Amino acid sequence: MPASCVIGLQWGDEAKGKLVDILAPQHDVVVRYQGGANAGHTVVFGDQVYKLHHVPSGILHPGVMNVITPGVVIEPDTLIRELTGLESRGNAPRRNLMISERAHMVMPWHILEDQVLNKQVVAGENIGTTLRGIGPCYRDKVGRTFAMRMTDLVRGNLRNRIDEIVAAKRNWLVGLGGGELAGQLDADGIYAMASRWSETLGPLIGDTTNFLLDSLDDNKKLLLEGAQGSLLDIDHGTYPFVTSSNSSGVGVSAGSGVPGRWIEHVIGVAKAYTTRVGGGPFPTELNNEQGNKIREIGREYGTTTGRPRRCGWFDAVAVRYTTRLSGIHGLSLMMLDVLSHFDTIEVCVAYELDGKRITNFPAEADELRRCQPIYETVEGWKVDVTGVRRWRDLPSQLLKYLDFISELIGVPIEVVSVGPDRAQTIFANSTKLSKLLRAGQAGK
Ligand code: GDP
Ligand code: IMO
Ligand code: MG
Repeated sequence: MPASCVIGLQWGDEAKGKLVDILAPQHDVVVRYQGGANAGHTVVFGDQVYKLHHVPSGILHPGVMNVITPGVVIEPDTLIRELTGLESRGNAPRRNLMISERAHMVMPWHILEDQVLNKQVVAGENIGTTLRGIGPCYRDKVGRTFAMRMTDLVRGNLRNRIDEIVAAKRNWLVGLGGGELAGQLDADGIYAMASRWSETLGPLIGDTTNFLLDSLDDNKKLLLEGAQGSLLDIDHGTYPFVTSSNSSGVGVSAGSGVPGRWIEHVIGVAKAYTTRVGGGPFPTELNNEQGNKIREIGREYGTTTGRPRRCGWFDAVAVRYTTRLSGIHGLSLMMLDVLSHFDTIEVCVAYELDGKRITNFPAEADELRRCQPIYETVEGWKVDVTGVRRWRDLPSQLLKYLDFISELIGVPIEVVSVGPDRAQTIFANSTKLSKLLRAGQAGK
């Protein structure tokens, strides 16, 4: 199994972090390849809860290397805080972490720009970003003129670069109507801060592209950890209500530097319902008691921003689209314990758009906004499943539900999750994933 990927199939927060942490020991290297500190990936075992933004979710396994590749935009302060936090809890993340010199840095001006731009209404709504400077940083990366990369911390002419960019960004902020924020950009302070980043992170910075290609040549096993979800993909998501990177399966190679020929298995992660944070269309959203019930039982509040997540029923139209787009081989369906509390469960099997039934996912946000979900009702299982550990012990009604979802989206369900803890994860037998994992274990 040269490389496997974990990809979110909805609008993020599908519990990718949990799955990556569980699969990590069967791999040699875990790779974060796009997004930045907008991600919040949670790992839970016993009374321990870890919330990771930048550091790959394999970091709690000392024998597994963790790599942040060129496609990620790094906010060095957040990364350093995360490393310090891990160290204060007895971990040694610097021993098994490598950061690409090609990765771009989210600088203080990007965060200020995000604040100013996020007040704008786009396509009738506010995007509602995480305010981590993600869009402005990716924009500067593509624009090239005002970009800074990790390599600048070890080889660049930091002082001149910061002076030049601060001067330009102050004018830019004034032009955007954020004049009151421009004064916060102090070149001396930013230079002092970047010098500290250089000292703290310098030893971790290197050529991850070569490292990963060498690892593959040496028969090492890679696990690629997607951030966000496929519906937030800049090119294929619900534009403009998306993030600024390719967060579906199509982004894996570009962000990591791992060519497609090495990717053997792509695992899609979805919740058994749907959530979304921030603005944008969401056909199955429940603005009612049922939505509140999902939010409270599932504790659906943002890992990065603490914002309440918008909640709704499972949308098979959307997930069938992202399953095909992301090249998914098998599904990991999460949060099934939350649905135990419902007598009946709705699954959206088609949309009604302008009087017509459709089963394709519209490209236009405006069209998606007009889509009315067409539901099929499924009997609930009404049994506490949080203690179930074997597939065969799952209630028959829940197994029927899994078959129904699997048929709708067109791939087998390989994993289910019945609670946040590592232990609350059940693998189906005789799937491609279970075979690959067994082979991976034997090869280690
Ligand atoms: P990620 O961004 O995809 O890694 O997901 P997040 O960590 O942002 O959000 C997932 C949340 O659900 C976290 O708080 C997890 O601890 C929690 N979680 C994961 N799996 C389950 C599950 O099966 N049931 C419940 N109730 N919570 C879960
Ligand atoms: P993980 O990896 C959920 C959403 C934001 C906003 C839009 C753009 O934890 O699943 P950005 O700050 O990226 O410019 O915001 O994308 N968003 C996420 N939603 N989970 C995430 O990451 C997200 N990262 C960004 O809420 O709607
Ligand atoms: Mg998250």
